[in-house]
Amino acid sequence: MKPVAQERSRRSFLGILVGAISVVVGAVMAIPLLRLAAYPMTHGGGEADWFSVGKVDGFGLDEPVRAEVEVRKRDGWRVTTAKQTVWVSRDAGGKLQALSAVCPHLGCIVPWNAEKKMFVCPCHQGLFAKDGARISGPPPRGLDALPTKVEDGKLFVKYQFFRQLVAGREVLG
Ligand code: FES
Repeated sequence: MKPVAQERSRRSFLGILVGAISVVVGAVMAIPLLRLAAYPMTHGGGEADWFSVGKVDGFGLDEPVRAEVEVRKRDGWRVTTAKQTVWVSRDAGGKLQALSAVCPHLGCIVPWNAEKKMFVCPCHQGLFAKDGARISGPPPRGLDALPTKVEDGKLFVKYQFFRQLVAGREVLG
C-alpha cells in the first residue's frame, strides 16, 4: 500500500512542478509582448528634432530662404520620414527667424511670393507677411515660428508640428 501512496504523492509533486515552470516560462515570454503592446502609450506621437539648415551668413535680409529637413514621425508602431519645408529669414534688426511652411488653415505648403513680397497659400489664398504674421484669408493665425539656435556658425531649427484650424499656437510634437 505504501508504494502506491508514495507514487501518487510523487506524481502530484511533479504535476505541481511542471505547472509552476509553465507559469514562469509563460510570464517571461509575455514580458516582451507586453512591452511591445505598451510602446505607443509610453512614447509620444511625434518627435521634435534639431536640424542644421545652413551657415548663418548664408541668410540675407531680403528674401526668406527655403530649407528642407527630413523629419521622423512616430504613429503607434510605425515610424515614417518625410521632407518638411522651413522658411528662414531675418527681421529688420538682422535677427534670424524660422517658420514652418505648413499653413495653419488646412495644412497646405505655403510658398514665398517674391513679386508680392509675402507668403501666399495656394489652397485658399491665405496671405502672410515675411515674419509669418497673418494678413488675410481663412487661416486662423500666422505661420508658426520654429525654435532656432546657432552652433559653430550654423543655424539649427527644431522642427515641430502644430494644430491646424485654431487661433492659438499648439505644438503637437
Ligand atoms: Fe492655406 Fe487654406 S490651407 S489658406
